[in-house]
Amino acid sequence: MSTPADLWHFARPDLASRYLQAFDLGLVSARGLFARRRMGKSEFLKHDLLPAAEAAGYAAAYTNLWDDTDHPGQAIAAAILSAVQPKGLARFWDDLSTPVRKMKAGAKLPMGVEGSVELDLADKEKLAVPAIQAALQLTDKSRKRLVLVLDEAQVLANPEHRQVAHSLRAGLDIRKAGIKVLFAGSSEAALREMFSRASAPFYNWAPVEPFPLLGDEFVVAIVAHIKRLAKQPLPLAVAQQAFRKLKETPEFFRWYVERYLLYQEQGPEAALAHTLTRVHDDTGYAKTWKELGRPDRAVLLLAAAGVQDLYGAAALKQLRELLGTEDVTPSLPRTSLRRLTGPRMQAMARVDHGVYRFEDQEFEAWVRSRRTVD
Ligand SMILES: Nc1ncnc2c1ncn2[C@@H]1O[C@H](COP(=O)(O)OP(=O)(O)OP(=O)(O)O)[C@@H](O)[C@H]1O
Ligand SMILES: [Mg+2]
Repeated sequence: MSTPADLWHFARPDLASRYLQAFDLGLVSARGLFARRRMGKSEFLKHDLLPAAEAAGYAAAYTNLWDDTDHPGQAIAAAILSAVQPKGLARFWDDLSTPVRKMKAGAKLPMGVEGSVELDLADKEKLAVPAIQAALQLTDKSRKRLVLVLDEAQVLANPEHRQVAHSLRAGLDIRKAGIKVLFAGSSEAALREMFSRASAPFYNWAPVEPFPLLGDEFVVAIVAHIKRLAKQPLPLAVAQQAFRKLKETPEFFRWYVERYLLYQEQGPEAALAHTLTRVHDDTGYAKTWKELGRPDRAVLLLAAAGVQDLYGAAALKQLRELLGTEDVTPSLPRTSLRRLTGPRMQAMARVDHGVYRFEDQEFEAWVRSRRTVD
């Protein structure tokens, strides 16, 4: 079923029903799936799986934890809630937060306008644990089973979100029959880690498998669509070759098609050349690198080289060498990593004290191939 919003959406009903069937049969109640960035995970989950789940009588909840990496608990609670009880989200938070407000008043916190907004979000995240529990309890009352999709689920592996992750797992554990969960992510390593570390909240909870990628049938469908719209149809073989050149990445292929349609008189070769340049600029690791300060680059180099304890004495010594100065204290990697893991950059994710990993493995490889901070 294609969404009216995007006429170019290539629907994948068979894949959606395969996931649902596995859930229906009770073979699994949770799955983890990964694919590189821009390969069509979110598009499938939102525009194929969710509608299919709803058509099959499930309530369906989706949230992308990258939208707000600091507050995954709220996002999950809100997603569940709006799936099982679409009205009354504000009321729900109000009810939950009443005791906290009282407590705050009692403690006489100095609150400026700005401060209160900040506190509000932080408070909500504190409330995330009871909120998740309350939302899950509501699903017990619902007659429908729930499909819960957590996109970029590796955010939950961040130690900061341990409590949320533990409470979510506990709540899901006792509801395996009624709630089916799909964890999706763009980093295979991160996702595997989430389910394979013995100390992790979701240890052994879901099998992790590759997300089936879009292939030739996608290209064929798009070419057929072009034929209906364009003066100059795009030969299938030409499109197939472009798809390969674009590393079989649906998003890049869509850019190519868009360019082709706008400048048909220039022909498909020009469209491909233009798209390749755009891909290069857009994934522009060199550009990112240029925008970073030397300390950040040095920290990235160590992380890419596999250094485990980025705050440790050995790491500091290497940082001094890379930066050519003795003036390196533990606050240097700490400050850098705060920037690199922050919502603006999202280059790294914290795994454990001093241990970080790259969000984008291709960027990691790119950094690794460099030798110096310059
Ligand atoms: N089924 C599809 N039909 C048509 N276009 C698609 C389809 N899947 C993906 N695309 C194109 O690829 C783009 C990227 O897809 P999507 O955002 O789903 O990737 P992703 O795997 O979730 O990537 P990320 O890890 O970066 O979030 C879409 O915006 C769309 O242009
Ligand atoms: Mg996505």
